[in-house]
Amino acid sequence: MSRAARAVIDCDALRHNLQRAAAVNPHARQYPVIKADAYGHGLLPVAQALAEQADGFAVASIDEALLLREAGVENPILLLEGFFHADELADIQQFSLDIVVHHVGQLQALEDLSRQQDISKAITVWLKVDTGMHRLGFAVDEAASAWQRLTRCSAVAQPPRLMTHLACADDLHNPASQRQIELFNSVLPQAHTERSIANSAGILGWLASHADMDRPGIMLYGVSPFLGETGEQRRLRPVMTLRSELIAIKHCARGNAVGYGGTWVCPEAMPVGVVAMGYGDGYPRHAPTGTPVLVNGVETPLIGRVSMDMLCVDLRGQPEAKVGDEVVLWGEGLPAETVARAADTIAYELFCNVAARVPREYVKESIE
Ligand SMILES: Cc1ncc(COP(=O)(O)O)c(C=O)c1O
Repeated sequence: MSRAARAVIDCDALRHNLQRAAAVNPHARQYPVIKADAYGHGLLPVAQALAEQADGFAVASIDEALLLREAGVENPILLLEGFFHADELADIQQFSLDIVVHHVGQLQALEDLSRQQDISKAITVWLKVDTGMHRLGFAVDEAASAWQRLTRCSAVAQPPRLMTHLACADDLHNPASQRQIELFNSVLPQAHTERSIANSAGILGWLASHADMDRPGIMLYGVSPFLGETGEQRRLRPVMTLRSELIAIKHCARGNAVGYGGTWVCPEAMPVGVVAMGYGDGYPRHAPTGTPVLVNGVETPLIGRVSMDMLCVDLRGQPEAKVGDEVVLWGEGLPAETVARAADTIAYELFCNVAARVPREYVKESIE
């Protein structure tokens, strides 16, 4: 291997985390959210690792769904934003994809399709209700009539299902989630149909959001959805460990400025470690001095600016460190949440930003 930067993906941990979701809400079907290349973990390998356990998968676009189908993934697949153009409906039918319908244009396209002669296969539709996110979905007072229209569509599998999405569920003290859940439950209360509310935060923190189908995302990847926590506190296991190595040790003198802009100046003679990891790999460029990095399993502060291929660490705590020593940027031993907090971002973004040039290595693929 030419460069040590790599993302090691623990497939057992993935399965463990999905099992956690299923154990919390055993009556629900679990649809792991694997959009955005499974939050940077690799769409297909993640789907394959979870295929036996997952009741279905949720993705953001038909391209992701077709990649899964072409690779032989047979689980139900839900397009979380539905279709963007009516010409996607042919593939949606052919490849048995389920869709979210969130605006009237999609509803009309399904009505048009239903008027055509040969409806080969009815499409499973989740009608999205906007209960407070104000992003996608029919307003609460429009939902019943949209649902009625869908019930008259021969192209739609009956009855249409109902879903909503929580805006503030990561904050367990925010009353908005309870309000959203109550609003959602007030929509078509008599309708006998499946409902879905919960993302990871709903599953782990909002019992009233437990319905017929759950959509766990970030918790699958081992991260707590709640502010100020780590996944370990929720008995989740980290899935991605971003690893690299020390590629140089510089013995700097007092007053030497380290890296671009010379933003960090050595307060004394000291060893500086250079790690093969930079913003070209997806490590956040704005991670400040002091962001923790594990060198040989010991927390070591990042110093100076992150550059494209490298970053520097203060090795005063481990003067014996040498070129080739193991570095962990996040994952096993260093929660992604901790790094995200230091870099003023969220673990979702850290994972999604890991660059294509960083090889993903999948370990523990077999089911024991
Ligand atoms: C509609 C919907 N459901 C579920 C999820 C999963 O959310 P989380 O990763 O917070 O569990 C997402 C993610 O953005 C989503 O958009």
